Amino acid sequence: MKWNSSLLDHLQWSDTIINREAKEKVAQQIAEKINNGDVIGAGSGSTVYMALYAIAKRIKEEGLAIQMIPASLEIGMTCENLGIPVTSLLTDKPIWCFDGADEVDPDNSLIKGRGGALFKEKLLICSGSKTYILVDESKLVKKLGTNFPVPVEIFPGSLTYVESALRKLNVTDIALRMAKGKDGPIITENGNFLLDVRFEDIRPDYEQRIKSITGVIDSGLFIGYNVEILVAK
Ligand code: 5RP
Repeated sequence: MKWNSSLLDHLQWSDTIINREAKEKVAQQIAEKINNGDVIGAGSGSTVYMALYAIAKRIKEEGLAIQMIPASLEIGMTCENLGIPVTSLLTDKPIWCFDGADEVDPDNSLIKGRGGALFKEKLLICSGSKTYILVDESKLVKKLGTNFPVPVEIFPGSLTYVESALRKLNVTDIALRMAKGKDGPIITENGNFLLDVRFEDIRPDYEQRIKSITGVIDSGLFIGYNVEILVAK
């Protein structure tokens, strides 16, 4: 027996979707790539959310059997709501993944994590053999850090230590991300804090250097991953 839940039925994206038309186009492009039997990793963000609608339509119309591994609670709930079967990384390996990004540079390096799901997004990208990154043209930058800080997920008790270690890199600003709709800082799905860090210059070894600081879970820098960028025209 199914619940009769108006909360789940009326689940919507939590904010205004910026560049909605372009995101709709790229959502269609990714929906065309699904094949019967695929286990797919779905990242997070409004572009992924819109892609799920396009994918759910194909599943329904063509009776496809696919399974999705979601990177966040909101993407998992959207899958459930749309009737897309969900599985997890504990039991399944994605054959391919798709995700959004906040910035993409000419080498296909990325900044991600505006939505706070960077750790599971990275776990998915590492687990699959290929990831499609869905963006509109506003996400393309000449240099990482042009429009967005680098999110860094940290164990809460390590806040001051991590801050002091990060300041040894060429940091220009560090902010503890504060919640909206809750007092105090944002708590990620993993129970951690998020720092938003601006650097004078993001160097190629920064992903590794940030990750090597004790207390850091991961950062939103994605440098040198096997990604293909799909840009909405
Ligand atoms: C969430 C992310 C998103 O993929 C990124 O913020 C892009 O979001 P949107 O598709 O809403 O523009 O990294 O942690």
